[in-house]
Amino acid sequence: MLISDRMLLKVIVLGDSGVGKTSLMNQYVYTRFNKQYKATIGADFVTKELHIDDKPVTLQQIWDTAGQERFHSLGVAFYRGADCCVLVYDVNIQKTFETLQTWHEEFLKQADPSEPERFPFVLLGNKVDINGGTSRAVSEKTAREWCALKGNIPYFETSAKENYNVEEAFLCVAKTALANE
Ligand code: GTP
Ligand code: MG
Repeated sequence: MLISDRMLLKVIVLGDSGVGKTSLMNQYVYTRFNKQYKATIGADFVTKELHIDDKPVTLQQIWDTAGQERFHSLGVAFYRGADCCVLVYDVNIQKTFETLQTWHEEFLKQADPSEPERFPFVLLGNKVDINGGTSRAVSEKTAREWCALKGNIPYFETSAKENYNVEEAFLCVAKTALANE
């Protein structure tokens, strides 16, 4: 959406409870990390101003959602008008990777974009810092194969704790969304 000469990108972050959605956003927008888990209730957004190449200022409106409540309380209106969907899983927990399929399907069902096969998703494999990567349950290769199957979704391995790849990932989110405008 264009407001005066500014682009407003609506980004929705989805994934199982505890994978680090809120932590990734807090690291990206406020450069802070909290060890303590506090479940997100409902949905809330933060806004980040971006300068990309020679494009007008882009406002990235990032919506954090609750992994625990799934889609039940948010409703279809929430997903409409989304420009990008960020899917997050925890590389140390297999189940959070398997559920991506459901998040992906549900998003498309709810958001109902005009060209579902072209809708921009970005996948983040978070918590790569844990045990120096020795307790991984999902390999990078497996994750990349899934992304390829879904129409070449960009993939980033991240750590909200160590601030690894977080900025890169969200910049890619903005560029992917802009390219689809
Ligand atoms: P819901 O709000 O319930 O959907 O969970 P969430 O996906 O927002 O997870 P949240 O960001 O609250 O993180 C869950 C727990 O994992 C917290 O205790 C975080 O401190 C921790 N955590 C998040 N990201 C990382 C990471 O990259 N590395 C490590 N070691 N811990 C992380
Ligand atoms: Mg949360």
